Amino acid sequence: MTSPHRQRTALVTGASSGIGLATARALAAGGYAVYGTGRNPQNLSDDARVPGVRYLPLDLTDPASIERCAADAGPVDVLVNNAGESQSGPFEEYPAEDLERLFQINVLGAVHLSRLLLPGMRERGYGRVVMIGSMLGSLPLAYRSSYCASKAAIRTFASAARAEFSPYGVWLTTVEPSSINTGISERRTHLVRPGSVFEEQYRRVIARLDAREAAGIPAEEVAGQVMDAIRARRPRPLYAVGGGSRVAFAMKRVLPDSVSERILNRQFGVRFQ
Ligand SMILES: NC(=O)c1ccc[n+]([C@@H]2O[C@H](COP(=O)([O-])OP(=O)(O)OC[C@H]3O[C@@H](n4cnc5c(N)ncnc54)[C@H](OP(=O)(O)O)[C@@H]3O)[C@@H](O)[C@H]2O)c1
Repeated sequence: MTSPHRQRTALVTGASSGIGLATARALAAGGYAVYGTGRNPQNLSDDARVPGVRYLPLDLTDPASIERCAADAGPVDVLVNNAGESQSGPFEEYPAEDLERLFQINVLGAVHLSRLLLPGMRERGYGRVVMIGSMLGSLPLAYRSSYCASKAAIRTFASAARAEFSPYGVWLTTVEPSSINTGISERRTHLVRPGSVFEEQYRRVIARLDAREAAGIPAEEVAGQVMDAIRARRPRPLYAVGGGSRVAFAMKRVLPDSVSERILNRQFGVRFQ
């Protein structure tokens, strides 16, 4: 068993910006020894570095990089799988290699890293693995099908595996943010073909998504929710955070899926026949 006085170690993927940066800062302020990752941490500006956080290179598209990162970090008590790609496009038009990259980053890479670190957590009798999902993993939206599916997949991996690890003091949980003002809109991958029959609706959805993100809550609020989940004695399967998420999840609970999908898509300007 771990001594209650030993400083716990946390690893946050994608700590170079946005939610990952805010979470690394919150963990460092909370007394954890923190590793943060980025694909090229040597190039991080001072603004993107948290004092005391040690940076490791990690590219989730590369299994060898994932294995090196886990080995370099050593024993980890808290893993926050935050790194992700925001992808959008009409279902018909996603190139296969883009779909594969998205699932490698958002799902399989995070699963790989978790599976390398979980045995140590289990043997030491304490661990937390937090998946940063998305509200769109629970409430799917047109023209985001690959992203929605990846976020539903990572949540489901965590939710299903919870009962395997909870007897060992190790808890998996998912935090699903709604719109968070991190600048992710600028880094979103757009996979719509020139002249696409879907282009007009696609542009409408993306404009509304970008506007919501720009008006979203700051990343620090998500980091606060992540900290609460980590500190909970029995973390819940799912935490929703961000403007509108309470109403959206309440709607999902009480309305039939066919009604809530219509409401959500209409909010983003998608006609639903
Ligand atoms: N912002 C929102 O509105 C929102 C809403 C719901 C969910 N989320 C989720 O929250 C998480 C963080 O989003 P954010 O808004 O903070 O975005 P962000 O600022 O763009 O951060 C994404 C992070 O992922 C890392 N990353 C990207 N590709 C990677 C790869 N191949 N391998 C390893 N790391 C990679 C980036 O690091 P480098 O570029 O330095 O490698 C960066 O640190 C994501 O999983 C996102 O899907 C965001």
